[in-house]
Amino acid sequence: MTDSTKSSNAMWGGRFAAGPDAIMEAINASIGFDQRLYAQDIRGSRAHAAMLAAQGIITSKDAEAIGEGLLTVLSEIEGGSFAFSTALEDIHMNVEARLKEVIGEPAGRVHTARSRNDQVATDFRLWVRDQADAAIAGLGALVRALLAQAEAGADWVMPGFTHLQTAQPVTWGHHMMAYVEMFARDIGRFTDARARMNECPLGAAALAGTSFPIDRHATAAALGFDRPMANSLDAVSDRDFALEFLAAASICAMHLSRFAEELVIWSSAQFRFVALSDRFSTGSSIMPQKKNPDAAELIRAKIGRIMGANVALMMVMKGLPLAYSKDMQEDKEQVFDAADNLMLALAAMEGMVRDMSANRANLERAAASGFSTATDLADWLVRELGLPFREAHHVTGALVALAEKKGCDLPELTLEDMQSAHEGITQAVYSVLGVHNSVASRQSYGGTAPDQVRAQVARWKEALK
Ligand code: ARG
Repeated sequence: MTDSTKSSNAMWGGRFAAGPDAIMEAINASIGFDQRLYAQDIRGSRAHAAMLAAQGIITSKDAEAIGEGLLTVLSEIEGGSFAFSTALEDIHMNVEARLKEVIGEPAGRVHTARSRNDQVATDFRLWVRDQADAAIAGLGALVRALLAQAEAGADWVMPGFTHLQTAQPVTWGHHMMAYVEMFARDIGRFTDARARMNECPLGAAALAGTSFPIDRHATAAALGFDRPMANSLDAVSDRDFALEFLAAASICAMHLSRFAEELVIWSSAQFRFVALSDRFSTGSSIMPQKKNPDAAELIRAKIGRIMGANVALMMVMKGLPLAYSKDMQEDKEQVFDAADNLMLALAAMEGMVRDMSANRANLERAAASGFSTATDLADWLVRELGLPFREAHHVTGALVALAEKKGCDLPELTLEDMQSAHEGITQAVYSVLGVHNSVASRQSYGGTAPDQVRAQVARWKEALK
């Protein structure tokens, strides 16, 4: 041993013993965030202890002490008196250590036939499952708010857009119902993900299962799972259930973002299609006239962090060999943040939709501008004069150009103007140029006619019963 090594031990020993340990603790500990899993952790441990006793692996007396002690720990956490310790790394060890203080020796038996690997996988599945339920409930409330809007305005006419250019008149109810369809599919995605995630990892132990005669069906049932997961390696090492939740959340956030964007546009002074309530708007500190759609803007932005979480967790998981690796501890913060923000966005959107009032007169005025019934005119030429659609399109195009030149809308062209483009046109054409006739004529299944909208509203109300 050289002098320098000797002195390195003597000189750096203290510093290395403290410094790296503190940093190691900082990078290793998850208690700062996984304490959110306390209820799931305690629920899982209680189910596990009861099963261990039922199987004769621990005594009923010990299991009872564990079960009771865990309830004490639960109330300490909920009462705010629990002291979380970073040195104890995570929620699992924090709870178990406190259980030991509360009940003593039997606490050491709860971890029989179990590992933190199956424990965390179980806790997290329970948590994500609750969030899927919360998302489904939040979406249900939003859908109900949209149905109320659609029912009230089933025959209110507004411009329908493509490329954000006036295309054809549609109804307010039809536009609201388009989002009902999207959010209902989101409910379907969360429901599907929930059904797939509803298998229990508990009892997979560290990775290989256990030599104790455990009953995984019993713990799965006690925790509300459909069945135990069939492969212990898979049970402790996949997080696809969280990824599916995030994927469904991302698509839902994308839908929310599109709708939020429409509300931002519609509430502007240039459009004035809707008035948002004061409850969901903010003012400006400098411009007294302003009423800003901040909630809509923030909802529009939430997709960033939610999709970000989806990508982040996918990157954490890619390339991990089976089974558990500590990388997987990085799953939680992303999912927590995405879930929190999705629930907030859903609640804010529901509130905005409930409160907003559409300006029927402005919607109708806008619907009539921009030659929105040009397609109706072309269809009339086909139906009444037997023109091929291509020719009808051409004739109508000429009339739009004429109206543009004269600075008027299509219904304001004279019959003479009309006949200059095609001599067969009669007075009857004017009946299809009005926006109400236009929407009423779109009776095809799924079309914008008020009757169709009312039928869809009724269908969804029935389905949501
Ligand atoms: N805190 C850990 C996590 O969130 C719990 C599992 C720890 N398991 C282990 N083998 N170190 O992933």
